[in-house]
Amino acid sequence: MPRPRRLFVTTALPYANGSFHIGHIMEYIQADIWVRFQRMQGHEVHFVCADDAHGAPIMLKAEAEGVTPEQLIGRIAAERPRYLDGFHIRFDNWHSTHSDENTELSQDIYRKLKAAGLIYTKPVEQFYDPVKGMFLADRYLKGECPQCGAKDQYGDACEVCSSVYAPTDLKHPYSTLSGAEPVLKTSEHYFFRLSDAKCKQFLREWLGEPGRLQSQVVNKAREWLEGDADKSLGDWDISRDAPYFGIRIPDTPDKYFYVWLDAPVGYLASLKNYCAKKNLDFEALLAAPDTEQIHFIGKDIIYFHTLFWPATLKFAGYKVPDHVYVHGFITVSGEKMSKSRGTGISPLRYLELGMNPEWLRYYLAAKLNANVEDVDFNPDDFLARVNSDLVGKYVNIASRAAGFVAKRFGGRLCAASVPENALLEKFQAAAGAIAASYATREFGKALRDIMALADDANSFVDLNRPWDLAKDSQASPRLHQVCSDAINLFRLLTIYLKPVLPQLALQVEGFLAVEPLDWRDAGTLLPAGHRIQEYRHLLTRVEEKQLDALFEPPAAQAVPQATAPQRHAQHQQHQSKERTMSEPAATPPAVQPAADKPATISIDDFARLELRVARIANAEQVEGADKLVKLTLDLGGEQRTVFAGIKSAYAPDSLKGRLTVMVANLAPRKMRFGVSEGMVLAASGDGPGIFLIAPDSGAEAGMRVK
Ligand code: MSP
Ligand code: ZN
Repeated sequence: MPRPRRLFVTTALPYANGSFHIGHIMEYIQADIWVRFQRMQGHEVHFVCADDAHGAPIMLKAEAEGVTPEQLIGRIAAERPRYLDGFHIRFDNWHSTHSDENTELSQDIYRKLKAAGLIYTKPVEQFYDPVKGMFLADRYLKGECPQCGAKDQYGDACEVCSSVYAPTDLKHPYSTLSGAEPVLKTSEHYFFRLSDAKCKQFLREWLGEPGRLQSQVVNKAREWLEGDADKSLGDWDISRDAPYFGIRIPDTPDKYFYVWLDAPVGYLASLKNYCAKKNLDFEALLAAPDTEQIHFIGKDIIYFHTLFWPATLKFAGYKVPDHVYVHGFITVSGEKMSKSRGTGISPLRYLELGMNPEWLRYYLAAKLNANVEDVDFNPDDFLARVNSDLVGKYVNIASRAAGFVAKRFGGRLCAASVPENALLEKFQAAAGAIAASYATREFGKALRDIMALADDANSFVDLNRPWDLAKDSQASPRLHQVCSDAINLFRLLTIYLKPVLPQLALQVEGFLAVEPLDWRDAGTLLPAGHRIQEYRHLLTRVEEKQLDALFEPPAAQAVPQATAPQRHAQHQQHQSKERTMSEPAATPPAVQPAADKPATISIDDFARLELRVARIANAEQVEGADKLVKLTLDLGGEQRTVFAGIKSAYAPDSLKGRLTVMVANLAPRKMRFGVSEGMVLAASGDGPGIFLIAPDSGAEAGMRVK
């Protein structure tokens, strides 16, 4: 094991004026996989993010909705956990740039930059909306193109003749906020002297540090830094005039930091907030020379993260970032999704359809590498990849071997056949190369290597034909050996897949009856006599109709019945109409199914549930759990342990002997207090109260409910 590293990891802070779209989710999945991998290596990781809450767009959106900016960002913040938990993305902390920590840190950084002589003011002339009473950023200005006369063109370039110009060149300019004709007005702005020789020198060195950044990123940043004569990096305007939703510049009555000044400071603010909760020394953690500060971001914000941000930190006397890891954009069926319109796949709809979040984690990981390349989500490819790799190759190994181990050998394994079975050593020896791929964000390569091993494992099973061995009692030891080896191979694959598939790995740990798997566990094999649990279904296949439903336009969402060819047609139609898929709340409520109403299912879907009458044989308090009661359920011969969140409604003693209904084929779940082997059914509404379901008298434990 290498020396433990201490990592402070962030993803870009999403603007708090809208819900997450699939691009955000991709970024978090990339970082989450990397972080989980580092933790499995035994490294210390502090993984934080926050809402980027400031700026004119948020202020204006709140105004348009008739709410305060605080209310708007509060609403958006409240929906974050659904997405993050839903996709098994586990930040240690989620904070906001609209916070005391961020105000203090931003103002402190500003004061230090000022003391270093790097802040100055100068008057700037800018368009001003006399009706709104505010200065207008270029995106709020339109007018006629000075070249071709096309109407309604933005202030920087003409979409008709492609000519480029300054906002002041527009003919008949108007404010898109009020329609009023803007006037030129002067105000004092604050500047960060980035063009200062010492700033540029620092940035040259910072960019040039080997291994710090991807080479594509260094090249881009160098272009901006050096430029041609007058195009090289200029000073940075860091102030905005009131009205603005942001952080006040110290010692001014009406000047605010431009949002991009305080946004990255939010990384530190979130860490500080987290340290306070965890009783850690924030200053010491941040400043420690061996704390590596790492930012995962998308390719559109390289400029801010490789020029402004390191210079800001450096000259305010803070530690500078160690790495900025840049990813490309996600496209859907080859089409760019628009950041503002949020077209693409709705992450929430994906979850509401009951699609497995780990399918998406796997699929995106398989496509991600260390380059700044776009990643395409293609529905047919998604289905093929997940079904063939995860279900067909990986899970298949366990399902082929486990039955024999349970039926013929009481669930016990025999010693792995090393060195006779060379595959075992091959699998173990692969740990280093796979780790190197994860560490360098070459997830696609890691998964290709892992799937090549899974192919080997399946060939091994094919070659040894356990189903034939099982017919011959003489071959029993051989059958035991083949199945035990297969289970060992499956365990090693699980270790390697765990950063990508944390929930599935947890289920497998339950099935294998092992402690949480770490990377170093690849150095060992399951011992002779180790007893595994009964194999329960681990992963379902992606179905065509789920993808159809995912791509259906919102109006048709209540009846997900389309067939594959329709899917593509609808997808295209959806694209051309530019419907918003990522913000279901924005579509007319009349055609929208209630947010928590799941999609229609078929009778076959229902039949996959194994519901049984269970007798509560025992019920106990769980030490240290606020909500849980530990139930021992009798299914008429078979017993199950289930942790149920019903403590607020039932005293354990009152439950003993009662009949209820349980989901008997739910994958076992490892919880803090033990493995839960199913779920009991209870009703609840918006108000308080949980009501356990009970069958009518006459029902007996073990009866199937259908
Ligand atoms: N608020 C700024 C970041 C401030 S960081 C101090 C911002 N927010 S954002 O919501 O627009 O984007 C957040 C992250 O999502 C960025 O890293 C951005 O590159 C990423 N993505 C936005 N669209 C994306 C795709 N289509 N695909 C992948 N990532 C995308 O920028
Ligand atoms: Zn034009």
